[in-house]
Amino acid sequence: MSDERTTAGGATAALDVRWAWTRRHVLDLDDFSRTEIDAVMETADAMREVLGREVPRVPALRGKTLVTLFYEASTRTRASFELAAKALGADVINIAASGSSVQKGESLYDTVRTLQAVGSQVLVMRHGASGAPYLVAQHVQMNVVNAGDGWHAHPTQGLLDLYTMRSHLGDLRGKRVVIVGDIAHSRVARSNLWGLTTMGAQVVICAPPTLLPYGMRPSVAPVEDPLALPRVQVETDLDRAVEGADVVMALRLQLERMTAGLLPSLREYARLYQVNEERLSRARTGALVMHPGPVNEGVEISPAVARSLQSVIEEQVTNGVAVRMAVLYLLARGKP
Ligand code: CP
Repeated sequence: MSDERTTAGGATAALDVRWAWTRRHVLDLDDFSRTEIDAVMETADAMREVLGREVPRVPALRGKTLVTLFYEASTRTRASFELAAKALGADVINIAASGSSVQKGESLYDTVRTLQAVGSQVLVMRHGASGAPYLVAQHVQMNVVNAGDGWHAHPTQGLLDLYTMRSHLGDLRGKRVVIVGDIAHSRVARSNLWGLTTMGAQVVICAPPTLLPYGMRPSVAPVEDPLALPRVQVETDLDRAVEGADVVMALRLQLERMTAGLLPSLREYARLYQVNEERLSRARTGALVMHPGPVNEGVEISPAVARSLQSVIEEQVTNGVAVRMAVLYLLARGKP
């Protein structure tokens, strides 16, 4: 039975009421079940169908107001959330901390309470401090979506990456996914580790030891920490990591989050860890090349590979709109 009030045209089973979505916030993927990820994937299929229409609009969020509140720079995430919310009929307010009363000393608490007081129902926020969206979620009635918090999590990026892989590879169980680059400072890597392992992928992370999370460094004994990342294969040699890969995902060096001394030089890093044509030839034929962006071509990935037929980097960005529509749609349908 489909949901008549919010159906995107009754076109797909994804808008079926069988998904028991009870989540009020999307803060990370560490507590997402396989069923919840499937719900997002199948709802995103429906949203992609909506976006292909002559008038890409459905009224699922009509009468609601969504605020994007960004304390850090963004191109893809902010733009795609705005497009997603508008395609669902919501009103959208965009706030960058640099142009808001934050500049006059307003606290995060006061800012989000103010946004709630003006009538917002959904808050999409990016903040430099890990955990900031969790704190906010405890103090507002709005649905909170984490659009990136410090080094910690970027759940909708993880979901759109899963969606892009699923579009090409189908079921991800047993697929070898290599994530190479600055894992230590990457919220994208952390959310991807949770999402990919939940979906049964064989995940390999690859980086120089200084850019691996402390507990994953080869020289450090693994600790029993309930908050630790899922156990995955760790490699420091990219040639070995890429062998037989179905997906190779390169990450940007997060220079803004690094302390000095983690790398001898960018040239040395590129020599050992750049995804280039020679290295990619060790992966499976037609392996997907991914990158969450922004890309530093010539550092973590060669221009030839970034623009090759195997690259789905732009497709990731495009899928971000449908996946974020799916997340907003499911949140609007969940428990008040
Ligand atoms: N991938 C990502 O979060 O990109 P933006 O910083 O441009 O939003």
